[in-house]
Amino acid sequence: MHTQPETAIILGTGLGSLANEITDKYEIMYQDIPNFPVSTVEGHSGKLIFGKLGNKDIMAMQGRFHFYEGYSMKEVTFPVRVMRELGIKTLFVSNAAGGMNPEFEIGDLMIITDHINFFPEHPLRGKNIEYGPRFPDMSEAYNHTLIQKADQIAAEKGIKVQHGVYIGTQGPTYETPSEYKMFRILGADAVGMSTVPEVIVANHCGIQVFGISVITDLGVEGKIVEVTHEEVQKAADEAQPYMTTIMRELINQA
Ligand code: HPA
Repeated sequence: MHTQPETAIILGTGLGSLANEITDKYEIMYQDIPNFPVSTVEGHSGKLIFGKLGNKDIMAMQGRFHFYEGYSMKEVTFPVRVMRELGIKTLFVSNAAGGMNPEFEIGDLMIITDHINFFPEHPLRGKNIEYGPRFPDMSEAYNHTLIQKADQIAAEKGIKVQHGVYIGTQGPTYETPSEYKMFRILGADAVGMSTVPEVIVANHCGIQVFGISVITDLGVEGKIVEVTHEEVQKAADEAQPYMTTIMRELINQA
């Protein structure tokens, strides 16, 4: 097999079915890659998939690593460094998030315009790996051109999209009403337990990023109800076709 992907996808919540659209597949189980962590969360199998999405050579991560599972930040972000070694230039990510912007509804897609790192440990803490500078710039963590293209695709396809700031927190608890309120006051539109570490490391090593959250529950005062993983999954499954369309089209243009 010969493939030289410049595009990587982390198949987070809402993007699982994109894996079915990859052709000419070559798969490597995480457990067969030296130093690769192995996923533990139910419903996340762990492998790298190389192949084609449309005409594009891509690599996809099926199964990601969360800080709440007990992995170190180095482990959570190790796959991004592997991507860098393989020559990846652009990374596409998805996640599930709780919406705090009062205009959001369950099932909305939110194009991530920026993030707030609320994790208790920084993924670049420690000796700087010379993939990038000691003090990396984060002024455009989510590539503006890709955001514009995604907006165009969404408009053409009649898919409603929101825009907003994602705050990444460690979990594994969902937020108390007061915590949702705090995150809103801090300037975030949605909250989740992933993405920020990988995006920081991608930026450090010069990989540009595009990300979408699917809003699976609401942290809006007056609308807060009990949240379960099953409901989060259900809302994400319903939004999946729209998320997949935007990502597929964008990857083919990018
Ligand atoms: N909070 C944190 N993570 C999440 C949420 C939430 O409300 N929904 C989905 N992932």
